[in-house]
Amino acid sequence: MKVTYLGHSCLQVSIGGKELIFDPFIRPNPLAAGVDVDGIPADYILISHGHEDHLADAETLARRTGAMILSNYEIITWYGAKGLNHGHPMNSGGGYDFDFGRVTFVPAIHSSSLPDGSYGGNPGGFVIESKEGNFYFSGDTALTLDMKLIGEKCHLDWAALCVGDNFTMGPKDAAKAAGFVGVRRVLGIHYDTFPPIVIDHPAARQIFQSQGMDLILVPPGTSMDL
Ligand code: NI
Ligand code: MN
Repeated sequence: MKVTYLGHSCLQVSIGGKELIFDPFIRPNPLAAGVDVDGIPADYILISHGHEDHLADAETLARRTGAMILSNYEIITWYGAKGLNHGHPMNSGGGYDFDFGRVTFVPAIHSSSLPDGSYGGNPGGFVIESKEGNFYFSGDTALTLDMKLIGEKCHLDWAALCVGDNFTMGPKDAAKAAGFVGVRRVLGIHYDTFPPIVIDHPAARQIFQSQGMDLILVPPGTSMDL
């Protein structure tokens, strides 16, 4: 499937003719200055938790495209109060079959408050199962033993894992997470955007390579087939 990295934790994934946008944070991200946010197509916007660096562009994107927002119950309710009623609420452990495939909202160990201080529900990640392949998007999370369950329940082709450290897993924990969920190909997310999460790319890649895994770190705007 075609995957485009749009900076920080934002991904555009094309599945079954649908465009999925994960955690849109483009306009406030200087590293993603080359990404044309007004040209991004979206059928679904998936939001892992309420923090600004995961949803800054979600409202404008949803209003322009009419995309359905998928997130936890509290975040969907918050958008509903803004008049964005095309949402699908989920909660930890629940899955649902959409036209492009199945989405399961899986636990993340993190926090989740919305930009105006509203309660943002529990943070999560997403497991996507489709005819074109399966993957895990970690959102912001610590390494957790629960990730083993994801690998036991689903054969994944790749994973997008946070690797920036400080607020989330760093490269060492992310490599362990990759082992837990059973993938060899990892697209790094949530790194370099802010000073505390700048990482040493060669050192991070080496951690994965030494365990027979591949850590993909690409500039925002890069497309790849995963
Ligand atoms: Ni966060
Ligand atoms: Mn974050």
